[in-house]
Amino acid sequence: MSAQTPPPGFVTADLGQAVGGYYDRTADLYAQLWGDDIHLGFWDEGERPGAGGADRHAATERLIRELVEFAGIAPGSRVLDVGCGHGGPALYLAGRLGCAVDGITLSAEQVSRATARAAQTGLSARTAFRVADVLGGGLAEGAYDVVWAMESLMHIADRPAFFATALRALRPGGVLALNTWAVREGALDAAETDLVRRILHSQVLPSLDSIEAHQRMAEAAGFTLVRTADWSTQTAGSWDPEFALLEQPEGGREYMMELARERGADVLRFFAAVPLMRKGFATGVITCGALAAVKPAPGAGGEVA
Ligand SMILES: C[S@@+](CC[C@H](N)C(=O)[O-])C[C@H]1O[C@@H](n2cnc3c(N)ncnc32)[C@H](O)[C@@H]1O
Repeated sequence: MSAQTPPPGFVTADLGQAVGGYYDRTADLYAQLWGDDIHLGFWDEGERPGAGGADRHAATERLIRELVEFAGIAPGSRVLDVGCGHGGPALYLAGRLGCAVDGITLSAEQVSRATARAAQTGLSARTAFRVADVLGGGLAEGAYDVVWAMESLMHIADRPAFFATALRALRPGGVLALNTWAVREGALDAAETDLVRRILHSQVLPSLDSIEAHQRMAEAAGFTLVRTADWSTQTAGSWDPEFALLEQPEGGREYMMELARERGADVLRFFAAVPLMRKGFATGVITCGALAAVKPAPGAGGEVA
């Protein structure tokens, strides 16, 4: 197990309600500034984001393509998308790969947006979106070829339970594909601990684990062929001022104050994260990891749920 003691994260009696509420209140802001993809961009090493975030969509779509490739997602797969957001990844999987995608999220606002986008893009027949907590029970067992979780696992407190749930939802031989924000392996010093604590609070995150800890959890749950990749360098441009427009919304401070009055002060979390994340990536304490794993098939020597 990791030697690190995680700093206390966003603690509440109902984390799911807090996460869902956060995404409900910020859905239009994310949509305006980032579009349908609410996740990091991906660039080749040495590349930076284009001026004014001109390559925003290309970079966020690239992350989806990278995970598809890394995990080996087959065209036509039945996919459970855990934390589907506004549906960007689900619509990519349905539209480009012909997958049938069930998307779940904690935010009703996100479900409305994803459902509307599916209709606009002619993908309603291959996608379905609903409000559900992945750990809330009620997922069909053994029904999916792929469990996909793009930047949602960091919001989930009980990560071993997530891996156990994903294993149950997959058919034998099915694939788990995820990427997540993470923290570097090993003990953190006081300044790093403080930075991580502020990030956890700004983004409604209960904790962050290292990429290595995710690998150990997937293996402990019973997954086989578990592989991880550190994508920190390739995704770090997401926090460049050119890309992360969240720091400088049109209307500036006054606009932010108005938002806070309208929706409650916690909407400001949305803007607070950017400089913190930039520092986290620059100092190497915050990382971005990808993980791919397979549910063992019967007779393959692994346990099958
Ligand atoms: C950063 S957004 C990522 C959205 C989407 N995957 C994308 O890449 O555009 C995080 C998502 O995780 C979802 N989420 C967090 N915890 C969840 C849980 N326990 N069950 C289901 N969804 C969850 C949120 O509702 C939100 O849709």
